[in-house]
Amino acid sequence: MSIHDKLKRLEDLRRESEQGGGEKRIAAQHARGKLSARERIELLVDEGSFVELDRFVTHRSTDFGLDDQKILGDGVVTGYATIHGRLVYLFSQDFTVFGGSLSETHAEKIVKLQELALKNGAPLVGLNDSGGARIQEGVVSLGGYADIFLRNTLASGVIPQISVVLGPCAGGAVYSPAITDFIYMVRGTSYMFVTGPNVVKTVTHEDIDMEGLGGADVHATKSGVAHFACDSEPECMASVRQLFHFLPQNNTELPPSLPSTDPSDRQSEKLLEVVPDNPNRPYDMRDVIGAVVDDGSFYEVHRQFAGNILVGFAHLGGHAVGIVANQPSVLAGVLDIDASDKGARFVRFCDAFNIPLVVFEDVPGFLPGVAQEHGGIIRHGAKLLYAFSEATVPKVTVITRKAYGGAYDVMNSKHIRGDMNLAWPQAEIAVMGPKGAVEILFRKEIAEADSPEAVTEAHIQEYRDLLAHPYIAAARGYVDDVIDPRETRPRLISALDMLRNKRDEIPRKKHGNIPL
Ligand code: HXC
Repeated sequence: MSIHDKLKRLEDLRRESEQGGGEKRIAAQHARGKLSARERIELLVDEGSFVELDRFVTHRSTDFGLDDQKILGDGVVTGYATIHGRLVYLFSQDFTVFGGSLSETHAEKIVKLQELALKNGAPLVGLNDSGGARIQEGVVSLGGYADIFLRNTLASGVIPQISVVLGPCAGGAVYSPAITDFIYMVRGTSYMFVTGPNVVKTVTHEDIDMEGLGGADVHATKSGVAHFACDSEPECMASVRQLFHFLPQNNTELPPSLPSTDPSDRQSEKLLEVVPDNPNRPYDMRDVIGAVVDDGSFYEVHRQFAGNILVGFAHLGGHAVGIVANQPSVLAGVLDIDASDKGARFVRFCDAFNIPLVVFEDVPGFLPGVAQEHGGIIRHGAKLLYAFSEATVPKVTVITRKAYGGAYDVMNSKHIRGDMNLAWPQAEIAVMGPKGAVEILFRKEIAEADSPEAVTEAHIQEYRDLLAHPYIAAARGYVDDVIDPRETRPRLISALDMLRNKRDEIPRKKHGNIPL
């Protein structure tokens, strides 16, 4: 056989490997509003940058007539590419091949990629579209999953890991995405559940469809499993690409900078207007964030979940930052179980990957109530406290209004190693709000007064004058400065520049014991 004949054979095999489960199944995939495994890769990575590995791998099963059903690639396309010019590893499961199910060799391809990503310090993106463990392979397939879970865990905090769920993801298969840093889902086509609707019906007699049990909105709003719910696959891939503007390649590198024409010394008149004069009125903290960060661009994570806290990425003076902010327009910005979990996980991601943290604080405290206490607000709230305390990245806080009670301590206070803590003049920093404090301190006097309202009002005013302002904290150095709100952007950029070479550490330990 001449080299030309051999090249022709290679070309034919390559073409065959790109057919997946065949035209009919690809058409069925399209008819469901889903893209093929390769089309997804094309949308995700820089044009022409994808290099495929292991395209000739086939399964080893002989049972159930599988001997003569070998499909090149075995249901997963793996390789490396670039996103914004930087290396990334990725796998894309092909639902047209045995429903994207995971065989021994399918798992081996993913494991090889995980090890490459870890060894070479670059992010790993998994595009998941799979019927789960390859039924014909039994325990070998389960072992393959466990091999993947182990490497997900070992890579956690070393390289960013992103999961995009674009089809079914059921049973134990959900636990690989669950261990990764960010999960994206698409409405109407992606599903995640440990047991599907039929099993649910049998066990608990609940009637529910796939979307209602484990669709994108359910996981983005209720369970908090998904960080992003998108309307389409192209939108989803564009969003993942955007995330990469904020991610370092690994835990030893700094996140990339994104030069901007937004002046570092820009002041914002708008910030004088955002906080209402009446301290009990809400406002949208996104207006504050938008007025401060480069070009007003805030990439919000977990947007639909626990809206009383906001988390996400932005750039300040061209440098990536992670933002954690109380949201006064939802539940007055109170900290509850879900908000604590959401905040803590995000803080730990940023800390693991050298992304400085910027906190905007307006928090009346932790949410009272039987449901919260019985649900473990103590345990969950402690996660956020632990996460901020443990974080060694540059940590900057701006108190825009309320900083009451334990929540003052938790939201990156100076006491837990906040590096630069600034307060606006409207800041109220105390053990509790004026009304609650007065009702405790002067209960007897109010009860016996001819005009309880007038007495209460007088004491509230007295409390406000004495305690509900930033100057007691400032006198102690608990806030480093009280600033004109308009100066927030330049002051944050200056603080982050000052902290650029920060070195801080935690005692040597195997690992801590965060209250999970
Ligand atoms: C082998 C599978 C398969 C699987 C689907 N297929 N799932 N083959 N193993 N797990 C094949 C089908 O035979 C079919 O082949 C093709 O993929 C498409 O499947 P359909 O059923 O026609 O598609 P659809 O109607 O869209 O339904 C998709 C589905 C359903 C919801 C995923 O196929 C399904 O319920 N599959 C089984 C899911 C499951 O229980 N998996 C195990 C979960 S437990 P043809 O040749 O007709 O195209 C698990 C353990 C993980 O994963 C362990 C970790 C600890």
